[in-house]
Amino acid sequence: MFHLLFLYLPSSTCSLCNHHDNSALLQFKHSIVVNTSHYYSWLDVCSSSSPKIESWRNGTDCCQWEGVTCDTKSGHVISLDLSCSHIQGKFHPNNTIFRLRHLQNLNLAYNDFSGSLIFPGIGDLVNLMHLNLSFSVINGDIPSTMSHLSKLVSLDLSSDWGSVDDPMPNYITRFDPYTWNKLIQNATNLREIRLDGVDMSSITESSLSLLVNLSSSLVFLSLGSTKLQGIFSSDILCLPNLQRIDLSYNKWLTGELPKSNLSNLLSYLDLSYTAFSGQISNSIGNLKSLSHLDLGKCTFEGLIPSSLFHLTQLSLLDLSDNELVGPIPSKITSLSKLHTLALAGNKLNGTIPRWFYSLPSLSYLNLYGNQLRGSIAEFSTYSLEYLYLSDNKLQGNLPIPPNGIEYFLVSNNELTGDIPSTMCNASTLNMLNLAHNNLTGKIPQCLGAFPYLSVLDLQMNNLYGNIPRKFSKENAFVTIKLNGNHLKGPLPQSLAHCTNLQVLDLGNNNIEDTFPHWLETLQQLQVLSLRSNKFHGEIPKFIGELHSLKGLNLSHNAISGTIPQPLSYLRNLEWLDLSCNQLTGEIPMDLTNLNFLAVLNLSQNQFEGIIPTGGQFNTFENDSYVGNPMLCGFPLSKSCNEDGEWKPHSTFHNEEFGFGWKVVVVGYAIGMLFGMLLGYFMFLTGKPQWLARLVEGLLYVRVKRTNNTNYVNRGMN
Ligand SMILES: *[C@@H]1O[C@H](CO)[C@@H](O)[C@H](O)[C@H]1NC(C)=O
Ligand SMILES: *[C@@H]1O[C@H](CO)[C@@H](O)[C@H](O)[C@H]1NC(C)=O
Ligand SMILES: *[C@@H]1O[C@H](CO)[C@@H](O)[C@H](O)[C@H]1NC(C)=O
Ligand SMILES: *[C@@H]1O[C@H](CO)[C@@H](O)[C@H](O)[C@H]1NC(C)=O
Ligand SMILES: *[C@@H]1O[C@H](CO)[C@@H](O)[C@H](O)[C@H]1NC(C)=O
Ligand SMILES: *[C@@H]1O[C@H](CO)[C@@H](O)[C@H](O)[C@H]1NC(C)=O
Ligand SMILES: *[C@@H]1O[C@H](CO)[C@@H](O)[C@H](O)[C@H]1NC(C)=O
Ligand SMILES: *[C@@H]1O[C@H](CO)[C@@H](O)[C@H](O)[C@H]1NC(C)=O
Ligand SMILES: *[C@@H]1O[C@H](CO)[C@@H](O)[C@H](O)[C@H]1NC(C)=O
Ligand SMILES: *[C@@H]1O[C@H](CO)[C@@H](O)[C@H](O)[C@H]1NC(C)=O
Ligand SMILES: *[C@@H]1O[C@H](CO)[C@@H](O)[C@H](O)[C@H]1NC(C)=O
Ligand SMILES: *[C@@H]1O[C@H](CO)[C@@H](O)[C@H](O)[C@H]1NC(C)=O
Repeated sequence: MFHLLFLYLPSSTCSLCNHHDNSALLQFKHSIVVNTSHYYSWLDVCSSSSPKIESWRNGTDCCQWEGVTCDTKSGHVISLDLSCSHIQGKFHPNNTIFRLRHLQNLNLAYNDFSGSLIFPGIGDLVNLMHLNLSFSVINGDIPSTMSHLSKLVSLDLSSDWGSVDDPMPNYITRFDPYTWNKLIQNATNLREIRLDGVDMSSITESSLSLLVNLSSSLVFLSLGSTKLQGIFSSDILCLPNLQRIDLSYNKWLTGELPKSNLSNLLSYLDLSYTAFSGQISNSIGNLKSLSHLDLGKCTFEGLIPSSLFHLTQLSLLDLSDNELVGPIPSKITSLSKLHTLALAGNKLNGTIPRWFYSLPSLSYLNLYGNQLRGSIAEFSTYSLEYLYLSDNKLQGNLPIPPNGIEYFLVSNNELTGDIPSTMCNASTLNMLNLAHNNLTGKIPQCLGAFPYLSVLDLQMNNLYGNIPRKFSKENAFVTIKLNGNHLKGPLPQSLAHCTNLQVLDLGNNNIEDTFPHWLETLQQLQVLSLRSNKFHGEIPKFIGELHSLKGLNLSHNAISGTIPQPLSYLRNLEWLDLSCNQLTGEIPMDLTNLNFLAVLNLSQNQFEGIIPTGGQFNTFENDSYVGNPMLCGFPLSKSCNEDGEWKPHSTFHNEEFGFGWKVVVVGYAIGMLFGMLLGYFMFLTGKPQWLARLVEGLLYVRVKRTNNTNYVNRGMN
């Protein structure tokens, strides 16, 4: 303690910093801004970092500044670490950093240089051993002077290529073959090369093979998403000191895993999303240090070598989406560290081996989309959070979900039996998908009270009974799909508590209820399907409150009344199916305001009057309206009135209509009788003028009424 203090005091009292370096740093500070409110999602790694550069002040010793390290003898700056410093600004060719000729370490990672080029001046820093410009928003060709950096030990130019949603402009740095070749030939001590996201599409197989010359130094090689193409030499994969290889996301890069000679030190191998193929050799089991093996989304074929499971260090194994066949090896040594195991999307058959159920650290298990049979046993592990077994041929009853599980997905299997009441213990669930099985029995009522459950998908089973009655307040439901079962009504009003709900599909059940007007509280709702049930009563005008709604299917129910005008407030509506109900009245003109409406079905109802035209309505064909005898106009073949005189009138209600109809029929009958009587009188008495005028007047009235009668008859057909 005293010793340390003694060493430290002198350097803080007398200035050590080289005068030129001091001013170069201050000028650099003036060329940029520090902006702590500037944000990219990848800057999250910097959340706890301070804007180091703010401690830099003229007149103080630069060797004491944050991020700066000096040579204790000469006072020259030898290390500048400004990673995560919230820097925003452009690099210019004259940037004063290039004057720090004694720099051995330069780290500007995780800043925003706004698409600046790396300038040739970088080649002046010939003492650099570590250059780190990762995630710093640089752009353009890597200057050929980079090859002057013959002392480089680590080079990190990786950038943000993983998150496509990020608002970062699409800046890309490029390596040309000339610069690459010279650099690899000159910097013979390179241990670590990280170029993820750099465009290396012009680097040929032979240029890449120069890496073999680094056989005594190279430890870390990361070339993810570099647009590399051609065959990746297995000689590189076999370099004796390699510990970490990442070639992921190079879909034109092919190669095979060497049958032997992979480095014993290899702990991390990621070839996912490449065109690597061939068999996974049994010798992979010799890699005693391997902890991360990701071969997902390649075209590997053959069996999974059983030696793979004698790796005791393995923590992640992903062989998903290949063409692997046969059974999963049934014997293992000890995989006490394995936390992620994904074998999805292959053609694996046989059963799930026993050892899966007791892996002590397993938290993610994905066997989706294989041909696995047999039953699912009970998991004895407490670490499992994610279990995805959908799209297999698993039979035997639904297992008890493992303790602490968050995602439990076993849809599209052949599971039978009840949903066990022990499901109620799985209150940590976020997602429960049991869809497309043959489950029977009732839905456990407790599901509505799970605090984190956001997706509940039980569609296409044989479940009966009620929908859970109590959905708790502040629940997390986003999707509820219970369609294709035998559920009865009524709908629980507590569904109104699901204020985050986006999809509610209760179609094809036996729910008997009035239209649930209280759903208006579900402001996030995008899809509502109540099709093929026994809903009755009117759609209450509150439907207009569901502003997010994109799809509404109420077909095959017994809904009556008219289409409420507020339905036209649902400006996001893309499909609307009200077919096969008992709806009446006219189609509101305002529905033509629904600009995104792509599917409309009003078939098999009692709508009447003229079909609105304009907007999306010009795109619907007659199978959107069939089975509404009183509906007329385009696109139906029946025009509204041949004379063009008849106009739809929204006050033409049933009662008046009935009244009018009776009057007309009575009038017509009286007219007939009266006419016959008059005819008889005329026959007896000749043609008195008064009588002739009266007859003409009556006939005139009758002709008018007869037109109406035709319309009535049409309506009654
Ligand atoms: C800081 O960054 C924010 C967000 O990118 C930006 O809106 C603001 O203009 C920046 N401030 C300065 C001084 O550049
Ligand atoms: C630092 O301060 C000195 C004297 O106060 C001044 O001459 C010099 O220009 C300053 N340097 C910068 C970069 O501001
Ligand atoms: C470097 O060049 C830029 C742009 O040409 C200029 O604005 C800046 O003043 C120059 N800085 C120095 C230190 O010369
Ligand atoms: C190799 O590095 C040395 C030392 O920096 C340099 O002088 C030489 O020009 C470099 N060679 C090439 C081909 O860049
Ligand atoms: C580059 O710097 C970033 C941020 O400090 C760090 O995460 C990364 O590991 C560094 N790269 C190398 C090769 O050391
Ligand atoms: C690189 O290795 C190849 C063969 O492995 C060799 O022919 C070549 O001379 C080496 N180049 C350098 C610069 O060491
Ligand atoms: C593996 O390395 C040994 C020793 O270096 C060598 O003799 C053998 O040919 C290599 N095998 C393969 C398949 O490259
Ligand atoms: C599993 O698949 C392999 C390869 O397709 C096949 O030979 C074997 O008969 C299958 N076994 C079972 C039990 O289906
Ligand atoms: C479920 O929880 C109850 C108490 O909450 C407990 O008695 C029972 O043993 C649990 N069942 C399982 C299978 O964990
Ligand atoms: C579903 O289960 C019922 C009764 O449990 C059974 O009658 C029916 O055949 C099963 N359906 C299928 C497709 O397995
Ligand atoms: C609405 O549900 C019916 C079945 O009840 C179905 O035939 C129709 O395709 C669905 N409509 C839309 C637009 O999905
Ligand atoms: C509307 O529904 C009816 C009856 O279900 C059906 O025949 C018709 O094809 C559907 N039309 C459209 C456009 O989906």
